[in-house]
Amino acid sequence: MQIELNNLVRVYNSADGLSKVAAVNDISLTIPSNQIFGIIGKSGAGKSSLVRLISMMEKPDSGEVLYDGERVDNLSEKELVMRRRRIGMIFQNFNLFSSRSAGQNIAYPMEICGLPKDEINRRVDELLELVELSDRKDARISTLSGGQKQRVAIARALANKPDILFCDEATSALDPQTTASILNLIRRIQSQMNLTVVMITHQMEVVRDACSQVAVINEGKLVELGSVNDIFLNPKSPVTKDFISHIGSDRKAGDGSDIVRWSQEGGEYELSFPSHQQGAPVLSNVAKKFDVEFNIRAAGVQHLTDGDIGKMIVDFTGFQVKEALEYLRNQDIIVEKAGE
Ligand SMILES: Nc1ncnc2c1ncn2[C@@H]1O[C@H](COP(=O)(O)OP(=O)(O)O)[C@@H](O)[C@H]1O
Ligand SMILES: [Mg+2]
Repeated sequence: MQIELNNLVRVYNSADGLSKVAAVNDISLTIPSNQIFGIIGKSGAGKSSLVRLISMMEKPDSGEVLYDGERVDNLSEKELVMRRRRIGMIFQNFNLFSSRSAGQNIAYPMEICGLPKDEINRRVDELLELVELSDRKDARISTLSGGQKQRVAIARALANKPDILFCDEATSALDPQTTASILNLIRRIQSQMNLTVVMITHQMEVVRDACSQVAVINEGKLVELGSVNDIFLNPKSPVTKDFISHIGSDRKAGDGSDIVRWSQEGGEYELSFPSHQQGAPVLSNVAKKFDVEFNIRAAGVQHLTDGDIGKMIVDFTGFQVKEALEYLRNQDIIVEKAGE
């Protein structure tokens, strides 16, 4: 299912009622079918407001939402109810019924749709197996770990065979290991079920580890959009650069990659190598072609969902530094002054 957003606007009255907040301020973008699309932004950027519009929970003040080319922002209440059944949603705080067992939580959306009991039972078992919780069917929610609760929520979200899954900060309450296992599960489900997944997060790690494309939003506006590879290789907006530089790691360079520095001094230029350039002896070619010498101060790799990006922090000396940098840029290598 491809989702198209055209000039979406949503304005709220502020909590004190004295001013207005454009939580979503003229956002247009296309979310491609059958992949994991990230929406990243700081707290208050407008992510949840945007998701409520995309998922038909709320209507925009203006603009359009289209699913596979058909308007869904102007459906009647009855059409909305039917269409929403094929949308799955999971949240940071799981939103499970604590009075129901794991299996009963998963059964709930199918009960609402009036499916026969034996069919519901069969499907609950299937879904429990999919999320690897077959042995916890009768467990009370309070006895489950955070990761297990999110697995139950995922199974429940998939119960009515949705074509879109929205994940609003789904891993934000989980530790890094549990986050990794939930992201793996979402990736597996996405490819098995041909789902379009919209992953809302404030963590660049989540984008790196799960998404193919990403939209960066700030103060209700779209500030950057592209493939995760391109954005890690060459982030353009200050907000995006800031997200990448805050990726958790204890030995990182300015760009947040797991870069190892073996010289504290120097490092005037930061080179980013796209995956197709990582086998090539680019730097030694530069030294042969031009009157330059290079000194590598730090290097490392950023692992992404669709390939890796190499980073190096390098000094160049000699008479043809300008020409050498120009040559590197022509080889699809991003060259920046380090720290900029
Ligand atoms: N229902 C609402 N009523 C009033 N203000 C809201 C409402 N929902 C969101 N906002 C405001 O819109 C802005 C964006 O909020 P939100 O979409 O929750 O951001 P995020 O999910 O990125 O943290 C914030 O300033 C928030 O206070
Ligand atoms: Mg939010």
